[in-house]
Amino acid sequence: MKRVAILISGGGSNMVSLVDSMVGEHPGRPCLVLSNVPGAGGLEKAKARGIATAVVDHKPFGRDRDGFEAALNTVLEQAQPDVICLAGFMRVLTEGFTAKWAGKVLNIHPSLLPKYKGLNTHARAIAAGDALAGCSVHEVTAELDGGPILGQAQVEIRPDDTADALAARVLPLEHKLYPAVLERFLQGDHRPITLP
Ligand code: GAR
Repeated sequence: MKRVAILISGGGSNMVSLVDSMVGEHPGRPCLVLSNVPGAGGLEKAKARGIATAVVDHKPFGRDRDGFEAALNTVLEQAQPDVICLAGFMRVLTEGFTAKWAGKVLNIHPSLLPKYKGLNTHARAIAAGDALAGCSVHEVTAELDGGPILGQAQVEIRPDDTADALAARVLPLEHKLYPAVLERFLQGDHRPITLP
């Protein structure tokens, strides 16, 4: 069984979809849910599922990203993950971190990458007049939201769409896409998939 650590900052709905997928014949099992936010809602959801949790609060580190990542690494090294899934983890990781775990870190991003790296993805897609929005799972490299794409799912943008309404339609797709990509990735298949 491959060990999967999941990094979160918030409610953890993507984390739950990953955890709930790792049953039966699935090649992975969750080994740790780690949050940089002490009160993140996802921590309780992980505990309720019997998964080990940890918090590394970024705030005491201020601008010391290396110090924060060293603390992350200490916790991760104990968990010995084969793969690390960023699931709504809202800290930018430096090259020191991405190089250390190269080829092992996945992220889900709420846009059709390479469009709209960074924040406010849905509002930017609407403002640009795009016909389509969606989500992407990609391998994490030193370039923010820039690593090789492993899967995408798309939805049509409606004429009267708001960022919140669009986000609410994309999120269920994230919950399908991320588990599908993780299972293939753990089997060594890195070819990109498109859902549905
Ligand atoms: C998800 O929509 C995810 O794609 C996004 O944050 C949300 C987390 O929700 N991630 C990013 O924006 C990363 N830059 P969740 O905590 O319910 O999974």
